[in-house]
Amino acid sequence: MHLNLFAYGCGHHSAAWRAPDSAFARIGDVAWWEDLARTAERGHLDAFFLADGQSLSPVPGPSWFLEPLTTLTALARATDRIGLVSTISSTFWDPFHAARLSAGLDHISGGRAGINVVTSMTDAEARNHGMDRLPDHEERYARAAEFIGAVTALWESWPAGTSPEEAAPVNHHGRFFDVDGPLNIPATPQGHPVLFQAGASDPGRDLAARYAEGVYAVAWDRDSARDYRLDLRRRAAEYG
Ligand SMILES: Cc1cc2nc3c(=O)[nH]c(=O)nc-3n(C[C@H](O)[C@H](O)[C@H](O)COP(=O)(O)O)c2cc1C
Repeated sequence: MHLNLFAYGCGHHSAAWRAPDSAFARIGDVAWWEDLARTAERGHLDAFFLADGQSLSPVPGPSWFLEPLTTLTALARATDRIGLVSTISSTFWDPFHAARLSAGLDHISGGRAGINVVTSMTDAEARNHGMDRLPDHEERYARAAEFIGAVTALWESWPAGTSPEEAAPVNHHGRFFDVDGPLNIPATPQGHPVLFQAGASDPGRDLAARYAEGVYAVAWDRDSARDYRLDLRRRAAEYG
């Protein structure tokens, strides 16, 4: 069994921050997140995961605050073994930034980085990135697939232990992105960060089946969890 801590704000219940022993006052204090990550590591959890959004959270009360990749980079220095997974939006991020920052985290943590690629959910997020509204669902998933392809090519473009001259361009020119590459960071201790995915729709499951090494999923009961697992395995087999 693998255990992952989905650390969210002061807790997943939207009123948790009002509890007398809540960590509300420490939510912006990186030392609190370090304590949490050390506790998870001491408890033998495999990974520490931070969700993320690109606007104020639609959920009332304190939620995200510190940016995940920078926070996880601090946690990398406060822990030794636990995996560190950051959410990255393929709708708003650029593949070069995503590949570079996550590769940086993998180097800094000695091979413990993962990214959870999401397609994002709200127009408020889109309006912080030069768009009037969120692109439609199909378009977001087409972009996510191209995004993962470009990020993966960048991660692999400069083989570990070789000189920069041996790094090869990726020359990715697609519908959404143009990236020459190579990445200006050599391949990371893990080869590349672990790829997670969290969408549950039809194209979300397809994306997971094609690319993900880990999937964040929500099921309300045992039967739906089993159906989901069977469906994902069937799709993964179809993608070889
Ligand atoms: C456990 C879990 C964690 C998620 N974390 C995030 C997140 O941090 N940020 C985000 O924008 N979406 C997050 N999502 C939402 C999905 O990635 C996805 O964008 C959403 O479900 C819409 O896609 P879908 O229509 O394929 O379900 C999460 C979903 C699950 C189940």
